[in-house]
Parts: sequence; structure tokens; C-alpha cells
Amino acid sequence: MVNIVESDPRVSGVEYQLSKVEKIIVVLSTKGGVGKSTITALLGLALADKGIGVGLLDVDFANPTLHMIVGAPTHVELEEVMGVKPYRVDENLYILSPVFFAGDTSLPLRGQEDVDALLEILTIGNWEDINTLIIDTPPGLGDTQLTLFKLLRSTAKDKTRALAVTTPSQLSIKSLERSLPLVEQLLSYKPLVVVNMAGPDYLSRHIGEYAVAGVVRYDASLEEAIGSLDKIRKTKAYSDVMGIVDSIVRV
Ligand SMILES: Nc1ncnc2c1ncn2[C@@H]1O[C@H](COP(=O)(O)OP(=O)(O)OP(=O)(O)O)[C@@H](O)[C@H]1O
Ligand SMILES: [Mg+2]
Repeated sequence: MVNIVESDPRVSGVEYQLSKVEKIIVVLSTKGGVGKSTITALLGLALADKGIGVGLLDVDFANPTLHMIVGAPTHVELEEVMGVKPYRVDENLYILSPVFFAGDTSLPLRGQEDVDALLEILTIGNWEDINTLIIDTPPGLGDTQLTLFKLLRSTAKDKTRALAVTTPSQLSIKSLERSLPLVEQLLSYKPLVVVNMAGPDYLSRHIGEYAVAGVVRYDASLEEAIGSLDKIRKTKAYSDVMGIVDSIVRV
């Protein structure tokens, strides 16, 4: 049985570390491969380029890729101050990834192990000087998401937002539409939706009763830009995200 004991001292550790940020955006999807990690990175970079201090946190323990997109190495020296400071990838952009602790390996965790890993990375991350923390999650609504939502609800409820990513495929949309009410119930917040890898004419304002905050086009140049923030800045996908960043962070 997966459990977080309220008296677990790590919960107050999480509360303390998260008290340093103004806003938390959880990026999620029910289908895999729809672009969560990409949208997390692009959104973080767009916000950082607007002069906002952004922290990126990867909690996809089995398959962390966020560090690759923003060009952070696997082996980094993290400064140890009240936990660890995240790794700085650009002027206002910082990242914390499980690969910094476990190396370039997959951590397929079960039940309580997943809860422990999540509690530990949230307890250890010192987000001092960070305004907005963006959390990249694995696909689906499983142990990681359920624990994360529960933790955020008890430690950072008023500043937690959720951004659900889907492709325009009706399979992905249907799957998300089915799950969004649950996300809303668990987080006490109506998630926003981004439709990613859309065709040029794609237009949608709502997925079920949930507002589409923006549409990001399919952009073949992204593949080559992985690992380079300068190349990412030149992609159409980055301009699309820059165009919707205000509607995502405003609410
Ligand atoms: N707008 C886009 N245009 C073109 N390719 C994209 C776009 N968004 C994401 N991709 C590509 O799609 C693939 C999947 O993206 P990504 O890894 O971000 O998805 P994910 O939802 O995080 O996957 P997972 O569920 O495995 O965590 C990657 O190769 C990425 O470069
Ligand atoms: Mg991912």
C-alpha cells in the first residue's frame, strides 16, 4: 500500500523547500510521448528569457530526459546548501534531475519506492531564488502523479497549477478528457491544456470543459535543437510557446 504518513518529517521538508517558490506548474499527460518534457523545457526557457527565475524538476524516475533537452550533463557537481541547489543551465534557468543522483540509468520504482524517491528529490531541492518551478512527470496517472498531487495539495496548494499536454489525436484527447476531472479533484485546480505537435490549421478552444491555453505546432527542427538552448530559441515551437506563456502563467 502506497502511503505518505503525515508525520513523515520529509513532508515538512518538502513544504519548506516549496515555500521558496511563487508558483508550481505540474506538466502531465495521460498518453506517453506527447511532448511533456519538450513543453516543460520550452515553457521554462520562454519564462527564463522573460527574466523570470525558473526551476525545472524531472520526476520521471524511469525515463528522465528533461536534462537532455536543456543540455545539462548527467554528471554535475551540485552545491550543497540546505539540500542541493539545482544545476544552472542558463541565466535564469535551473534544473534538478534524478540522473544527477543516480546517473544515466533507469529507475523503475514500485509503490513505496516511488513515493520515497519523490519525497527525497522534493526535500533535497533548494529552490531559493526561483520564482516558478515546473515539474515534468512521467506519462499517465500512476504512483508518481498521485503522490505528487497529494503532496502538493498538502504543502503548496494555493500556488500549484497543472498543464496537461496532448497531441491533436483523438485517442490522446479522449484519454485526457477522461482524466482531467480527476486531476482537478486531486489538485483542487482546473488544469489547462496545451495541444502539441499540431498541424498548421489546428484550432481548438476546449477539451471537454477545460480551456486550451495554446497550440504548439509540429516542428521537425526540434530534434536537431535538443541539447542546445540557442538552437531551441530559433525553433517555431519555441515561438509558439513564447506566444502562449502569458496565458499559461497568468492563471
Ligand atoms: N512540437 C513538436 N514538434 C516536433 N517534435 C516534437 C514536438 N514536441 C515534442 N516533439 C518530439 O516528440 C518526442 C516526444 O517528446 P517528449 O519526450 O517531450 O514527450 P513526453 O510526453 O515527455 O514523453 P514521455 O511520455 O516518454 O515522457 C521527442 O522526440 C520530441 O523531440
Ligand atoms: Mg517525458
